[in-house]
Amino acid sequence: MATNQQFYWAVKFLIWLLAALPIAWLSWSILQKTLGPNPAEAIDRFLGYWALVFLWITLAVTPLRLITGLGQLIRFRRLLGLFSFFYAVLHLFSYLTINQFFDWVAIWEDLLKRNYIMFGFFGFIILTILAATSTTTMIKRLGAGNWNRLHKSIYISAILITIHFIMIRKGFQLEPFVYAAVLLLLLTSRFKLKHRRSRKRKFLSLKK
Ligand code: HEM
Repeated sequence: MATNQQFYWAVKFLIWLLAALPIAWLSWSILQKTLGPNPAEAIDRFLGYWALVFLWITLAVTPLRLITGLGQLIRFRRLLGLFSFFYAVLHLFSYLTINQFFDWVAIWEDLLKRNYIMFGFFGFIILTILAATSTTTMIKRLGAGNWNRLHKSIYISAILITIHFIMIRKGFQLEPFVYAAVLLLLLTSRFKLKHRRSRKRKFLSLKK
């Protein structure tokens, strides 16, 4: 029978595989030249999209853990969050290189013209801080309480990125709103489940 540790490594392997698939697909599409008339834009959008998907999966871990009671799920949250950051770095890199060719004046003008970029930028800064403080050493250095408070800012980042996404898709497009609705659901369920759990704990301690 598989031990806990074997199960842990199997799930980790699956996450790595899942995270490698979009990159593999993108590389294949670049080689096959099937990215449409504007490949630079397609690459940038694809990478941004997967950064968002991994962020949403990361945010789903806590509600899932609270619903299923599978405490072990928490062990995969950091890895999922780091994959979101990884795709966000590639997204920014593709914007700076193949889209803007490191032309800082053009980038500045673009920032002023398409102000949704600002939302993505601040969302990215938060993700960078969270990735930099995701190690066990940083948890010890900051203290669990401070670390937890800091890492709640992942929700601020997710809200900024939702705005970034909604504003990019001009006119009314359903997809960004679906992601916004899922985020709202994740936020409220997390709050409700935590609240219910603390009420249950209080009730049990009164019974003792
Ligand atoms: C400094 C940071 C960022 C910059 C400069 C930036 C810039 C951009 C630009 C220019 C686009 C439009 C692509 C195009 O039309 O060529 C875009 C799209 C997008 N970005 Fe960002 N972004 C940043 C951060 C992020 C982050 C952190 C995320 C998610 C975690 C993200 C998610 C997205 C998504 C989902 C799209 C739309 C993809 C689609 O249309 O399917 N961005 N970003």
